[in-house]
Amino acid sequence: MAAQGLHLFFLIFFNHLIFLLSQQEGAGFIYNDFSQAQADLHLDGAAKILLPGGLLQLTNASTQQMGHAFFKKPFEFDPSDKKFSFSTHFVCALVPKPGADGGHGIAFVVSSSVDFTQADPTQYLGLFNISTNGSPSSQLLAIELDTVQSAEFDDIDKNHVGIDINSLNSVESASASYFSNTKGKKQSIKLLSGEPLQVWVDYGGSLLNVTVAPLRIQKPYHPLLSRSINLTEIFPDRRLFFGFSAATGSLISYQYILGWSFSRSRVMLQSLDFSKLPQIPHPRAKKEQASPLLVVLLLLLLLIMLVALGGIYLYRRKKYAEVREAWEKEYGPHRFSYKSLYKATKGFDRDGRLGKGGFGEVYRGNLPHVGAIAVKRVCHDAKQGMKQFVAEVVTMGSLKHRNLVPLLGYCRRKGELLLVSEYMSNGSLDQYLFHRKKPALSWPQRFAVLKDIASALHYLHTGANQVVLHRDIKASNVMLDSDFNGRLGDFGMARFEDYGDSLPATAAVGTMGYMAPELTTMRTSTRTDVYAFGAFMLEVICGRRPLDPKIPAEKRHLIKWVCDCWRKDSLVDAVDTRLGLEYSEEEIDMVLKLGLLCTNIVAESRPSMEHVVQYINQNLPLPDFSPDSPGIGVSSPVLLETAFTSRSSLEPSASPPSPHNSMFVTHTITYGDGR
Ligand SMILES: *[C@@H]1O[C@H](CO)[C@@H](O)[C@H](O)[C@H]1NC(C)=O
Ligand SMILES: *[C@@H]1O[C@H](CO)[C@@H](O)[C@H](O)[C@H]1NC(C)=O
Ligand SMILES: *[C@@H]1O[C@H](CO)[C@@H](O)[C@H](O)[C@H]1NC(C)=O
Ligand SMILES: *[C@@H]1O[C@H](CO)[C@@H](O)[C@H](O)[C@H]1NC(C)=O
Ligand SMILES: *[C@@H]1O[C@H](CO)[C@@H](O)[C@H](O)[C@H]1NC(C)=O
Repeated sequence: MAAQGLHLFFLIFFNHLIFLLSQQEGAGFIYNDFSQAQADLHLDGAAKILLPGGLLQLTNASTQQMGHAFFKKPFEFDPSDKKFSFSTHFVCALVPKPGADGGHGIAFVVSSSVDFTQADPTQYLGLFNISTNGSPSSQLLAIELDTVQSAEFDDIDKNHVGIDINSLNSVESASASYFSNTKGKKQSIKLLSGEPLQVWVDYGGSLLNVTVAPLRIQKPYHPLLSRSINLTEIFPDRRLFFGFSAATGSLISYQYILGWSFSRSRVMLQSLDFSKLPQIPHPRAKKEQASPLLVVLLLLLLLIMLVALGGIYLYRRKKYAEVREAWEKEYGPHRFSYKSLYKATKGFDRDGRLGKGGFGEVYRGNLPHVGAIAVKRVCHDAKQGMKQFVAEVVTMGSLKHRNLVPLLGYCRRKGELLLVSEYMSNGSLDQYLFHRKKPALSWPQRFAVLKDIASALHYLHTGANQVVLHRDIKASNVMLDSDFNGRLGDFGMARFEDYGDSLPATAAVGTMGYMAPELTTMRTSTRTDVYAFGAFMLEVICGRRPLDPKIPAEKRHLIKWVCDCWRKDSLVDAVDTRLGLEYSEEEIDMVLKLGLLCTNIVAESRPSMEHVVQYINQNLPLPDFSPDSPGIGVSSPVLLETAFTSRSSLEPSASPPSPHNSMFVTHTITYGDGR
């Protein structure tokens, strides 16, 4: 029974509610945007609905404009009805025009008429003219959002909300602010911010409440303005139109209404759906006139930065500049970049300098993926011959023998050539022979090195595809690896040629004392290398250079001196004293004699490297010969003569310098190793 009674009660209650709601029909409206509101609204002046968004624009930021938008249907009210009320909630925006000071503001208006043709489009918000302001016949109630402080209307500031009755001299006003429900205190708002603003106007029980707040803020508990109003007094005609008004005078801004909800009853007021509100167009700021000084400063800064960057770029370009020609493409893998070599040698640091010779300087370095390297910087001016030279360098790189220093590649720069080879940890042989800093080598060590170099030279002469001449065999070009194996290095001088190929003017390549006498007149051959190797053998055993100006004349020429010792049957006199007595006299004898055999003044009488290897390895006995055999132990007086008088006279004058040699001819005659 009780349940049935309850059911009945609810039925009656809901019926009543539906009746109440239908009563309220036509007593309210809501626009989340105004795109469908054209028919319902009375628009005049500059007011229009911007489509497709449905933004209601009251004025358009040109001067002397006003605009009105009123709901067309008036609301009647009965003065006897003490319960008459209305509630409205709208979202508006006052958007400043860039560069302009900002207009007069906007007003929510309750009026007995929608005819504002007599109003002035000036400071009167589109509501009055000078004579109607303050006149009760206007029958007008307005809530102004005023952004100008007019002394004429006793405005409190230029950012206030006011209640106006028939006059712009507000009966009640306050600086724009709202009561924050969360913080429990007042927060100020800037009306002319371009941001959407919520406004609530509630009338009921003869009390008019005005509340403002930024968008997405819950309605504040306390209204900004609250004023007792007798509507009967203001509107004797009892007809009320609701709407908005705005005007620009000389001061302008964009004035928009985004959404509007209205109801005769506060509880029936529908809430706006913020997600459906139209977007506010934000006028693009005209490019602000940057101060010319700032512009100049910025330009100057930019210029300085550009110059600095350019300088760094040019510096780096110059620092790492290389010479690279089209024909070098095919040697790509053998070409090192200068930058990588620069980095590998820590900028050709003096601490990493291994030596300084007649050709240039040698630096130690470390290349990633390659390991320890030696970089030789050779000065060169010649453009000619470079192509062939590089071709040779690359071919040298392909020569593989355990007693050759592997040549890895090269790099070219203006006036400079860099040759990259493997680093030999124990340096060059001459340091052990002539420099007291390094320990003297024992006889077995020296003998082993001689065998190594003989083997390497034999390989160059016969083992490779072409005949390769070394041309500059001497102690300073023999390197020692970590196991003290002899390694023939410095191919900077080496050239290769086919047998029978006559190349004149190659004669003056080499080092005095190691150069076969026929070199002044004839082409180089494997026999000239044999001559140099012979001189080198004597050098290693005797511990002195083949030609030493500091030594007394009778001993100065090593070949002759050794031969003299042999003639006197005291070959041991020629042997390096640093060897002590720890050597095999038989071996020393053999090597000294082999040295003399190789330095026979007659090229044809010298053995080939093939035979030299066999002799030195004692696989073949030396041929029979004596100190007085033809060509043995003969110094070449012509060469000696020229060597001590003029270097340049050594250049073959008879033959025109062939381009491919010119770069060597001028540089390659050195004494000793140039130390
Ligand atoms: C503003 O509207 C008026 C007409 O009401 C028009 O003459 C004027 O050109 C408009 N100004 C701009 C900037 O759109
Ligand atoms: C002001 O408006 C009234 C009518 O509303 C009109 O009679 C009067 O001439 C207007 N005054 C000016 C100065 O425009
Ligand atoms: C107006 O504000 C006062 C004070 O907050 C409140 O008591 C009153 O109910 C409000 N009236 C309306 C119609 O909102
Ligand atoms: C409102 O004004 C009318 C006319 O002046 C007057 O008759 C009425 O009593 C006033 N009502 C209140 C509540 O003051
Ligand atoms: C030769 O090289 C090896 C390996 O780098 C080193 O241990 C040795 O000390 C070197 N000998 C001389 C005499 O420099």
